[in-house]
Amino acid sequence: MNNDEKISAHYCHGNLLTAIKAGLEKQGIKPENASVEDLGPVDEFHIGGRAASVHFLDQLEIWPSQCILDIGCGLGGAARFAAKTYGAKIAGIDLTSEYVEVGQQLCDWVGLSESIRLQQSSALSLPFEDASFDGAFMMHVGMNISDKHMLIAEVSRVLKSGAKFGIYDIMKGNEEELVYPVPWATTSETSWVSEPNDYRMALETNGFVIAEENDRREFAMDFFRKMKAASGAAGGLPPLGLHVLMQQTTAEKIPNMVANLAAGRISPIEMIAIKDA
Ligand SMILES: C[S@@+](CC[C@H](N)C(=O)[O-])C[C@H]1O[C@@H](n2cnc3c(N)ncnc32)[C@H](O)[C@@H]1O
Repeated sequence: MNNDEKISAHYCHGNLLTAIKAGLEKQGIKPENASVEDLGPVDEFHIGGRAASVHFLDQLEIWPSQCILDIGCGLGGAARFAAKTYGAKIAGIDLTSEYVEVGQQLCDWVGLSESIRLQQSSALSLPFEDASFDGAFMMHVGMNISDKHMLIAEVSRVLKSGAKFGIYDIMKGNEEELVYPVPWATTSETSWVSEPNDYRMALETNGFVIAEENDRREFAMDFFRKMKAASGAAGGLPPLGLHVLMQQTTAEKIPNMVANLAAGRISPIEMIAIKDA
């Protein structure tokens, strides 16, 4: 297997649509009546879920007439939230075919398939013409991509001049080795967590000016504290959550992620950059 195949295999569930349907039905929700909010607990695969997306995407100032690219869209949760909230057209690409197929079905359920198109592709070879998009975002994807310069050069190629590009990735906090498995990788073999400075350099050498940078570590620690308290109070996991995606490995991956955060090895960081500012 090459690296792309290993990464897709890491994320592939095998029966994800059925698992999401079951989680909705446990709450008495028919899939075809589900809302963007109902899907939020399972389709936002990054620290902080929907709350993180609201904080991050609001900084991109997306308008209804815009075409926006979601790089490494996963199940398209942030794409659906952005299409519904800002009225923009969203294109999403992701390496993992199952996420793209299930994600497009979720768009149908919530009535957003006219506004969103998800397709299988690598972020390193985007299937779009130069200067196609008014903006782009990427959430928790760079940890699976070793060459940040090539990634950001490709994003820059498909963006129009003046477009905003938002990154919300887990970045390196210190030199200590991470504890694995984590949600994005089972071992260090497919994990390329980089320092914020690597992103800054890749952005600046590809014509971006960084307008905003936020370290979301405190928000992340608080998110995990609240998640633990909620599942303690409820006496178990909710019908839909990221455990539906990670299945039995959740019990190791989430505590490892929290330990890595607490030890300062990683931090979720937002960067908002403008092309040719
Ligand atoms: C942790 S998930 C985040 C998904 C989504 N952005 C979200 O926040 O819900 C990481 C995603 O990145 C995708 N990915 C990893 N490497 C990629 C690449 N080279 N090109 C496109 N997608 C990639 C994976 O398939 C996976 O869906």
